[in-house]
Amino acid sequence: MPSKRCSRPVRCSSPVEPSRLAAMTPADDRPYSPGLEGVVAGETSIALVDGANGRLLYRGYPIGELVRDGTYAQVAELLWTGAWPDHAELHPAALPEAVVSTLRALPPTAHPMDALRSAVSVWGAESGAKWPPSADQARALTALTPSALAAFARLRRGDEVIPPDPQLDLATGFLYQLNGERPEPAAARALDAYFITAAEHSFNASTFTARVITSTRSDMASAVAGAIGALKGPLHGGAPGEVVNQLLEIGSVDRAEQWARDTIARGERIMGFGHRVYRAYDPRAAALRDVARGMSGMADWLETAVAVEDVVLRVLAEMKPDRVIKTNVEFYAAAVLQGVGLPPDLFAATFAMARHAGWTAHVLEQAGANRLIRPDVRYVGPAERSLPKVATAARG
Ligand code: COA
Repeated sequence: MPSKRCSRPVRCSSPVEPSRLAAMTPADDRPYSPGLEGVVAGETSIALVDGANGRLLYRGYPIGELVRDGTYAQVAELLWTGAWPDHAELHPAALPEAVVSTLRALPPTAHPMDALRSAVSVWGAESGAKWPPSADQARALTALTPSALAAFARLRRGDEVIPPDPQLDLATGFLYQLNGERPEPAAARALDAYFITAAEHSFNASTFTARVITSTRSDMASAVAGAIGALKGPLHGGAPGEVVNQLLEIGSVDRAEQWARDTIARGERIMGFGHRVYRAYDPRAAALRDVARGMSGMADWLETAVAVEDVVLRVLAEMKPDRVIKTNVEFYAAAVLQGVGLPPDLFAATFAMARHAGWTAHVLEQAGANRLIRPDVRYVGPAERSLPKVATAARG
């Protein structure tokens, strides 16, 4: 019989006499999946990632339709509230003085993700946003990030911070606060489309991090700061900056095949290809390829990218026949972000900025039906034992 405090017999056992503990320690044959791969760790109604069929749905709506007919503000409201609004507005927020002075204090060499994480953290301290999280907190935090990232990007090159224009949407406002001039509408629309594709992707590592933090009834800023930390890691934060470098290295399409063969033969990864979940063409890549096609000044870059993609897919299929490796979102994200004039070292933080809608939606969902997330672990260390005699003797 389990003891009274234990709700699940599999996890808990009756009190055991200490003399029997050492003998009992190692026996644990419960299933374990490294990286939690294949483990269902929660339930969500926010997004469906259907890797086998190459589908991504936000609250049931296909990503392609959302990119074609929606705005990031509408998509964010959909993620937060579950309902599609006919119209939605989200404008960049003015930065609290404490956020500006924190960004000013960072070294210009700081990683933009560190700057964004610091800004979110200071906002949390300033705003006093506490448990339970709310959709208004989500709106305020999501609106802070374009101003914060643009401010850091300017401060690190010695320029002054540009205050937000409250008339502008987040994508337009970000480019304005970054460059000091209004972007072309087509560029702003392309960035908005990128924001939509990057807004949400279910139980990835950073989103799960945000949910774990929320499950302790910690505040939204702490959850999002943790999520940014998780996204910063190269296994998650993506590789669009690297895609640009690779295309520059390849130089021309006729060099692509040899380059791809040499890269794979060296055991290296080609950035912008492969995915843990998708076994079909990443639907976000398809949506962003269409967006890139509609951007002015992209013709040469895009022609090269499309041709290189064909070659790489062919070489991957030949050299990695046991694995279905298709184009992922990063390949065409790189094209769009490059096309709107962002420097590659801002790509990852721009992704983080867009992901705020999804992270905060998951924070709200977790808080709405909360249970502390505290998995078990299999103990593989030594059985119970006594300290060596010499250590006990030394203490006198
Ligand atoms: N280029 C070359 N080989 C690749 C590859 C790529 N982009 N992606 C996967 N592979 C190969 C691996 O080398 C491995 O081959 P092996 O079995 O002969 O050793 C096999 O496919 C399985 O790789 P694994 O890392 O186990 O697959 P995964 O599904 O866990 O990997 C990624 C997913 C995203 C980590 C991986 O595809 C990758 O590193 N891609 C490049 C980085 C990138 O674009 N990241 C952005 C993701 S949105």
